Amino acid sequence: MDAARKAAQQARAPYSGFRVGAAVLAAGGKIITGFNIENASYGLTLCAERAALVHALCAGHHTFLAMALCAGEGEPATPCGACRQFMAEFMDPETPVFYSALPEGSRIFKTTPGELLPRAFTFSKPRP
Ligand code: THU
Repeated sequence: MDAARKAAQQARAPYSGFRVGAAVLAAGGKIITGFNIENASYGLTLCAERAALVHALCAGHHTFLAMALCAGEGEPATPCGACRQFMAEFMDPETPVFYSALPEGSRIFKTTPGELLPRAFTFSKPRP
């Protein structure tokens, strides 16, 4: 959560002003972070969750033991639908996902990809 909170400070969010930080713990112990990256063509915006997973995948990690998310001031934000589908692709349904609001000391909640997106879309046979 500390890494996710730090990543949120780097968010590129000039249009919404809404900062989101994410961190994944890869097998082997590395923590890889991501933050939301907005675009003047709003629909091209990349969420923090997907940024963290892409960052980690491109660095050669493929097994994720946990994810932490940090966003919002009062109630913590939870991942959008697109990120839930993305998480379902690369994380086991039981992987712990911790989420908390931005202010330090905010309560930390726990969920899982399986709880966030039950019956996620998948091909019946995994493709290469
Ligand atoms: N955002 C995320 O980074 N993750 C989510 O799961 C939901 C939304 C970002 C996208 C945009 O930069 C800002 O939050 C407001 O929607």
